[in-house]
Amino acid sequence: MLSIRGLNTHYGSSHILQGVDLALPRGTTAAVLGRNGVGKSTTVKSIMGLVSPSGGAIALDGIEIAGWQPHRVARAGVAYVPEGRLIFPDLTVIENILVAERTPARDWPISRLLELFPSLQARRTNKGSQLSGGEQQMLAIARALVSDPKLLLLDEPSQGLAPLVVRELARIIRLLRDAGVTILLIEQNMKLAEAVADELHIMVKGRIVYSADPHRFRAEEEQVRTRYLTV
Ligand SMILES: Nc1ncnc2c1ncn2[C@@H]1O[C@H](COP(=O)(O)OP(=O)(O)OP(=O)(O)O)[C@@H](O)[C@H]1O
Ligand SMILES: [Mg+2]
Repeated sequence: MLSIRGLNTHYGSSHILQGVDLALPRGTTAAVLGRNGVGKSTTVKSIMGLVSPSGGAIALDGIEIAGWQPHRVARAGVAYVPEGRLIFPDLTVIENILVAERTPARDWPISRLLELFPSLQARRTNKGSQLSGGEQQMLAIARALVSDPKLLLLDEPSQGLAPLVVRELARIIRLLRDAGVTILLIEQNMKLAEAVADELHIMVKGRIVYSADPHRFRAEEEQVRTRYLTV
């Protein structure tokens, strides 16, 4: 589904992504973990076309999309939930979702989204600014789903959420995966990543340096943490 090879991205003269390789089979969830500033968000922004890579390949179902404009990447079936959620504070829950609907949703119509997210159902006429952090995160995911994506990019969805809400988030991510959505999850929360991912990757200085399935990851967790994740 998604195949990234030798991806390089610069911000001016700063060389941030230094050859990212990542393969994400259809219907699976991959997590990318890493310390602050290693290039996790830059990776998803490069996929989405929000920053233009300076080299390497990004293939979506065999089609080369590196360097495409974001709207074109979106139309090709990629949805992006940015760090910090960026929902519209003055629009209601329903309006926030509907602005993202390009054509009537087939897989994820608003009725199904409200079933999937009971907290949004209860607050459907509330404004974005009146939602809790967890509700805003669920709304950001619902807004991404209404475009019926084949690939969903989630950038640190658990950031700032209470443990109970993180558990709800894990339930949602597993449910989406089971419904066939391919998911690339950027996380700092190792437990969440372990709970939902089919494969875990560690990024250090703009490269993937370690990949494992959850079983092996759990067995090696302590070494991985000390070696790659502790500041
Ligand atoms: N627009 C930009 N212009 C210049 N430098 C940037 C820009 N955006 C990010 N950077 C730098 O690129 C590096 C990687 O940033 P990125 O946001 O990808 O990190 P990250 O792994 O997502 O970190 P975090 O865990 O803090 O979200 C950092 O050193 C950051 O300061
Ligand atoms: Mg980031």
